[in-house]
Amino acid sequence: MIFSGLRYPIIQAPMAGGVSTAKLAIAVSKNGGLGFLAAGYKTSDVLETEIKACIEANVLFGVNLFVPSNEMYDEVALQTYKNQLEKDFPMTLPAPKWSDDEWFQKLDLVEKYKAPFVSFTFGCPEKQIIKRLQKIGCQIIVTVTNTEEAKIAYERAANAICVQGINAGGHRGTFQNTDSVNYEPLHELIIKVKNAVNMPIIAAGGIMTGQQIKMLLIAGASAVQLGTAFICCDESGTNKVYKQVLIEGHFTETELTRTFTGRLARGLSNDFMKKYKQQAPKAYPALHYMTQPIRQEAIKNENPQAMSLWAGTGFKMIQPLPVKDLLEKLVKEANL
Ligand SMILES: Cc1cc2nc3c(=O)[nH]c(=O)nc-3n(C[C@H](O)[C@H](O)[C@H](O)COP(=O)(O)O)c2cc1C
Repeated sequence: MIFSGLRYPIIQAPMAGGVSTAKLAIAVSKNGGLGFLAAGYKTSDVLETEIKACIEANVLFGVNLFVPSNEMYDEVALQTYKNQLEKDFPMTLPAPKWSDDEWFQKLDLVEKYKAPFVSFTFGCPEKQIIKRLQKIGCQIIVTVTNTEEAKIAYERAANAICVQGINAGGHRGTFQNTDSVNYEPLHELIIKVKNAVNMPIIAAGGIMTGQQIKMLLIAGASAVQLGTAFICCDESGTNKVYKQVLIEGHFTETELTRTFTGRLARGLSNDFMKKYKQQAPKAYPALHYMTQPIRQEAIKNENPQAMSLWAGTGFKMIQPLPVKDLLEKLVKEANL
């Protein structure tokens, strides 16, 4: 069984953008869960250092890669949005660009170091890529948001799927950058996907308690993946203001937005999201690179209203604990 090497079927979600660290992944794996590294937006050199740290710590770990997009951008809408942002924020923004996020270099790295688990988001890699990694012992996980995507991952012989529900923090892992959103509650989605494909399922999205974990395992999941629950752990790389607003309850809601990156992602509903809701075009990862200086400046100025504060709907239950204590609490509640 794919997760038989784990003491507990609890996976720490990869969280690109600074939250995920090797320290976080190692702490999770050392305490019986499965820690994941987030390769997204990092250089392959930085990723390599993190992989080496996990190997030196002698723990099981996973690496998550973003599958490059092939979408066309509406250049006029992009330029209009850029002009508007440059008017509102006193800075020159970089020209929007496409990037494959060092896809091939990162694939080579997970192969070179034989990462025990490799997960993919924003698409399903071709069968030969999956096969190539499986041949050297990697377990392949593909993030899906509906049964159609699950069937593709099944046909391409992934080892497992991570079924991401509507309550999940961060980007929707849809294969296409789409406006259509699957609002099915997670446990219903798990049951539906389980009936459609015969493969291990990881449930993700809005999971904050052991009771939820128990319910999803009963619904048919083989493991659960939690992101938001780990954002405020001592071992995370989350910046000070991000942690502070989550713990102190400055924001009351989350919403899906494409204002920061051009792709739907769930985060704390702040001024930036509200102001640019109508204008932000569907253009990922172009907007990610274009809005990056605004977000970096916001972190410097400790201004949460212009930061991307990714979080799932369960964020009010976040507990700022060391990983060990959080896992112990979840395991006890779930009666694992
Ligand atoms: C801050 C943050 C960053 C994330 N970055 C990634 C990522 O790099 N790759 C990925 O596959 N999923 C990413 N996700 C989504 C998670 O894999 C997972 O679906 C989500 O955290 C589950 O919902 P929860 O946050 O309510 O637990 C991110 C989530 C958050 C909160």
